[in-house]
Amino acid sequence: MDSLRIIETGDGSHTLLNTALDETYHSRHGALRESMHVFITHGLLHRLDISAVTTINILEVGLGTGLNAWLTMLEADKHPSVQFHYVGLEPYPVEESVLRQLNYIQPDETKHQTYFNAIHQATWEQASSLTDNFTLKKQQISLQDIEEESHYDLIYFDAFAPNKQPELWEKPIIEKVTNLLAPSGVWVTYSAKGQLKRDLKSLGLQVETLPGPPGKAEMVRTQCT
Ligand SMILES: C[S@@+](CC[C@H](N)C(=O)[O-])C[C@H]1O[C@@H](n2cnc3c(N)ncnc32)[C@H](O)[C@@H]1O
Repeated sequence: MDSLRIIETGDGSHTLLNTALDETYHSRHGALRESMHVFITHGLLHRLDISAVTTINILEVGLGTGLNAWLTMLEADKHPSVQFHYVGLEPYPVEESVLRQLNYIQPDETKHQTYFNAIHQATWEQASSLTDNFTLKKQQISLQDIEEESHYDLIYFDAFAPNKQPELWEKPIIEKVTNLLAPSGVWVTYSAKGQLKRDLKSLGLQVETLPGPPGKAEMVRTQCT
């Protein structure tokens, strides 16, 4: 595993710096703000707005610190009539000693701490019921190696940036992951690279370019028809 350093981002929240890649796990302009903007507001809340659902299956590519999973779990509390099934792919799990130092939780927020701990203590490779309506399955596997038959209503594509991990942004991989979308499924990422948009369009997907989080002009979302 490459070495990781905790750094503070523009909104005061931590992220991890992968020193070998010289790449952070979130935007340096604000980790928490980026996750909320890209994955919760433009991903989860958008998908829940499209049509009423009683179950939502979510796939995250790159579970990392668990920030997106944790924010999703907190949001699930506001939708008690919806069952959330969350699968997080992470070939290089972050060590517990590092996770413990992250500052996402305010000291008086017991529930937030309980949820964060539940995510990280959940057993890998099996679905664990963490709350009445949130199930998590963490899989220690690379996206390239999954042999999935499930389909997802929402996919958070949170790989390292295209210039740092180009293999995850190549068209065959983008095709593989977008093929996992269920009808009306939404695929969302923080990147807005021209090549990515062209590849998504050529795969027959509707591509939306949306305003990005602070420090980033644009981001991309696609929807399966
Ligand atoms: C940008 S960070 C994701 C941050 C994460 N979503 C979070 O909230 O902390 C990219 C993540 O993708 C993981 N990753 C690297 N190679 C991968 C692969 N081949 N398949 C899936 N995930 C991968 C990294 O280990 C890292 O955790």
